[in-house]
Amino acid sequence: MKKKKLGICLVGCGMIGHVHAREYGNLRDRADLYICDLDQSLAERIAAVHGAAGTFAAMEEALADKRIDAVDICLPHHLHCGAALQALEAGRHVLIEKPLANSLAEADAMMEKARATNLTLAVLENFRYEPAVGRARELIDRGVIGEPFMIAIHEFSYAIEMTSLMKTYEWRMKAASGGGGILFDRGVHLMAMANRLGGPVRSVYAVTRCPDRKWEVDEASVTTLVHRNGIVTNLILSWNIRTPPPMPLMAVYGNAGSIIESPEKRVPGHAHFEIGEIRVFSEKDREYYRATDPAVIKGVQAYMKKLGDDDLPEEAVDRTFAKGVPVDISSEFAGYNVYREAMVDFLECLETGRRPRVGGDAARADIELVFAAYESARTGMPVELPLPAP
Ligand SMILES: NC(=O)c1ccc[n+]([C@@H]2O[C@H](COP(=O)([O-])OP(=O)(O)OC[C@H]3O[C@@H](n4cnc5c(N)ncnc54)[C@H](O)[C@@H]3O)[C@@H](O)[C@H]2O)c1
Repeated sequence: MKKKKLGICLVGCGMIGHVHAREYGNLRDRADLYICDLDQSLAERIAAVHGAAGTFAAMEEALADKRIDAVDICLPHHLHCGAALQALEAGRHVLIEKPLANSLAEADAMMEKARATNLTLAVLENFRYEPAVGRARELIDRGVIGEPFMIAIHEFSYAIEMTSLMKTYEWRMKAASGGGGILFDRGVHLMAMANRLGGPVRSVYAVTRCPDRKWEVDEASVTTLVHRNGIVTNLILSWNIRTPPPMPLMAVYGNAGSIIESPEKRVPGHAHFEIGEIRVFSEKDREYYRATDPAVIKGVQAYMKKLGDDDLPEEAVDRTFAKGVPVDISSEFAGYNVYREAMVDFLECLETGRRPRVGGDAARADIELVFAAYESARTGMPVELPLPAP
């Protein structure tokens, strides 16, 4: 007997809903796509472009329709919890966009409902699928950079002005709907990266600022995360930087090497993934070592000799000026798409009953860091986090 195709209803067809619809359009052999948006003409337009099987004017209508097995929630943050609970209560599996929810209490209620109904709750946090982060993690685990001690996650841009004029940002800039500021909306991705690279976090200290006074919560923030293994992450996020310098979005420093993103190779958001190249330097693995030009070494030794350091070892000078090697993530992962990966994972969970690669636990750990940062910014004190559940 031919296996029944899954019926997925995309709820919310705005900035990211367009991306989801595009990817489901390429997965037509696996699932029938339905589209729901309060803006019915938008739903119909997107449905026509991506060959959807039908549209709904409200999620309740979709939940009353037997063709729908699951919903993919791409709604503003303040609607996440209510929509997910409603869908799970109606016996539908849920894929939901980041951030999981506007509070940990909401997240817990959603996860508890998924457990009680034995339905899938998967989260589309694209940075949990970002291939460069996985590649960096693999290099760290292989000991290529020695013992990692520091992670730097820096996003400097001047997005504040244009985004504050965009419809899709209206609800984000308000605390009641956005659930936080830029550290929540964009920062949750960066927290996902910190969690993946550094492991569980012990304490969080943050200072937030609002230089352009466009967002109600934070526009700029500096956060220090101390991971349970002792690694420290410095995370700076600001969309207020005039003429932003090209900062690596991700860098991991170890006592025998470094992994540093190449900002000039960044891929624009919502294409397939963001980090196009990393430079890897390793004192342990010569594959990732570009030695210093011998003429430079000799020059440094000669200069230091004049200052009285007769025997500055060649190896020390070499290591001081040696360079890393570019790892071209765009070529290595050609054809890989973070959004499609998450959707295919979700479809497989529905087909096989297995757990999602990114479920409530991981997504909760990401928002927990943002909320701890806000508490720290409010009190001026570091926030200690409870041990993660076993
Ligand atoms: N992973 C990513 O890269 C990424 C990028 C952008 C947004 N997001 C996330 O996706 C979610 C949606 O963000 P967005 O930028 O697409 O928002 P948006 O404002 O552009 O789109 C939201 C859509 O939902 C519709 N809508 C609102 N209430 C509705 C309801 N009750 N029923 C049906 N439709 C309704 C609106 O008409 C609108 O079309 C957020 O959680 C956001 O953080 C993720």
